[in-house]
Amino acid sequence: MKKLQGKAAIITGAQKGIGYAIAECLSSMGADLFLTDINEEGIKKAAHTLSSSFNNRVIGYAQDVSREPDCENAVKAAFDAFGKIDILINNAGITRDNLAIRMKEKDFDDVIAVNLKGPFLMSRAAFKYMSKQRAGRIINISSVVGQSGQAGQANYASSKAGLIGLTKSLAREFAKRNINVNAVAPGFIETDMTSALDEKTKQALLSQIPLERLGKPADVANAVAFLCCEESSYITGQVIAVNGGIYI
Ligand SMILES: NC(=O)c1ccc[n+]([C@@H]2O[C@H](COP(=O)([O-])OP(=O)(O)OC[C@H]3O[C@@H](n4cnc5c(N)ncnc54)[C@H](O)[C@@H]3O)[C@@H](O)[C@H]2O)c1
Repeated sequence: MKKLQGKAAIITGAQKGIGYAIAECLSSMGADLFLTDINEEGIKKAAHTLSSSFNNRVIGYAQDVSREPDCENAVKAAFDAFGKIDILINNAGITRDNLAIRMKEKDFDDVIAVNLKGPFLMSRAAFKYMSKQRAGRIINISSVVGQSGQAGQANYASSKAGLIGLTKSLAREFAKRNINVNAVAPGFIETDMTSALDEKTKQALLSQIPLERLGKPADVANAVAFLCCEESSYITGQVIAVNGGIYI
């Protein structure tokens, strides 16, 4: 039997990049998936591709994680479909980079709303079901820049540092219901989010990474998969870095 056979997982921001890689990985481990994204066409396509490649149930659902009703409705729809929610992966995220002095208030607010408020709203909605089951796993995708800070990313780094605080607080609150809450903090991973970097910036970055390569979405997915499995049941409130050693 596959390790996550019979488990039901919600993954936000799953139509591409790291979210899609997590969906692929959990599919290969047998989990049924409720995939969400703000891009409706993209998420339906991703769900279709995965359900035809693996023998699991995959549902694609459009939602904006920064809106409370969307989060309540998405989690309810997942429960209605699968009768349970075992795993929630808060992966959806955006950047609106600029130097702090030039950063627009809206760009600060939007990034915090998606990257930090979204995981709070989704976790709170999922807790209602997980607490009745007395079991659950919540995994928040933070970032190395939430640990180190980053020039040009005051909004993004604040949201990802805040997500670590949220992870630790929810881990303490939810532990009595046997719900583990952890974060994964990727370094620089090859996705659309980093493809915007120019060659000079990429080379400068590479020179700081002890493992001398950017990460792949699957590197992050493998760490997330471990946190979904029975073997990690005594781990909660932690931040697992997947960063090639750029921040140790
Ligand atoms: N790529 C990296 O190097 C890197 C490094 C550290 C952390 N991360 C984090 O990993 C996560 C995934 O990043 P990625 O590189 O795959 O990015 P990506 O841009 O490829 O994918 C992000 C997904 O989130 C979706 N999304 C955006 N706003 C949304 C909203 N309001 N509601 C629902 N979905 C929404 C997008 O449509 C997209 O499909 C993000 O949280 C990101 O901050 C990425």
